Amino acid sequence: MKSILDFQKRKKSGEKITMLTCYDYSFAKILSASSVDVLLIGDSAAQVMHGHSTTLNASTAVLALHTEAVARAASNKFIVADMPFLSTRKGLKNTMDHVQKLMQAGAHAIKIENADGHLELIRHIVESGVPVMGHLGLTPQFIHQLGGPKVQGKSTEAAEKILQDALALEKAGCFSLVLECVPSELAKKITQSLNIPTIGIGAGAHTDGQVLVLQDLLGMNKEFRPKFLKKYMNGYDLISEAVQNYVDEVKKSEFPDKEHSYDGN
Ligand code: KIV
Ligand code: NA
Repeated sequence: MKSILDFQKRKKSGEKITMLTCYDYSFAKILSASSVDVLLIGDSAAQVMHGHSTTLNASTAVLALHTEAVARAASNKFIVADMPFLSTRKGLKNTMDHVQKLMQAGAHAIKIENADGHLELIRHIVESGVPVMGHLGLTPQFIHQLGGPKVQGKSTEAAEKILQDALALEKAGCFSLVLECVPSELAKKITQSLNIPTIGIGAGAHTDGQVLVLQDLLGMNKEFRPKFLKKYMNGYDLISEAVQNYVDEVKKSEFPDKEHSYDGN
């Protein structure tokens, strides 16, 4: 996918959109050669790359650095960068400075969590030539407000609020919408109610696309096992084993062997 026009085409054709987070050059090289559609420089980088316990510690400077690295490797992919915690809450000029940094780092669009207080802002960003992806349901920047990483939209009222927010985001000009940790039926209803594609994580099978954190699908974190996550590889054990083999072989003077040494000719 090269542009937001392709998102619209997918909504019409029904072909699923696939998105993965990506924060660095090495993985971006691999994803660039894959058929995944969209790379997201998520503020989850604060956790996955930098070891913070929430996404609150992500900054635009750090996300821009990750975006640059990804963009160098994956010029063929549509790249979305997250607007980090509070970057949309300090006035329009400040917001636009963050948008500018992420777009100039190589993003083709930015993603903003939640709708309340953002509709005018999103209109302005879109009118400035910058595509905006929405994000509703479990919005991790609101973790302290939500009381933890809980499924959202379970009550009738909460579900209605998310649906109304989704419609408002579409109206404000969002080109697509992430739905995180909401019941499948609600995600289905929202997907059917919108003209823009929905991209789900923990939102069931009826969204127009799916997104996962790359390191999660690779099984890099043994402790992280939410219900929605399918690990397509046991990365933690595979990498541990390779590292241990290296250490063992060095200690036994088996590495480097002749094959991996310069013989002077
Ligand atoms: O930061 C992130 O990884 C995200 C996705 C989970 C949608 O926002
Ligand atoms: Na995010």
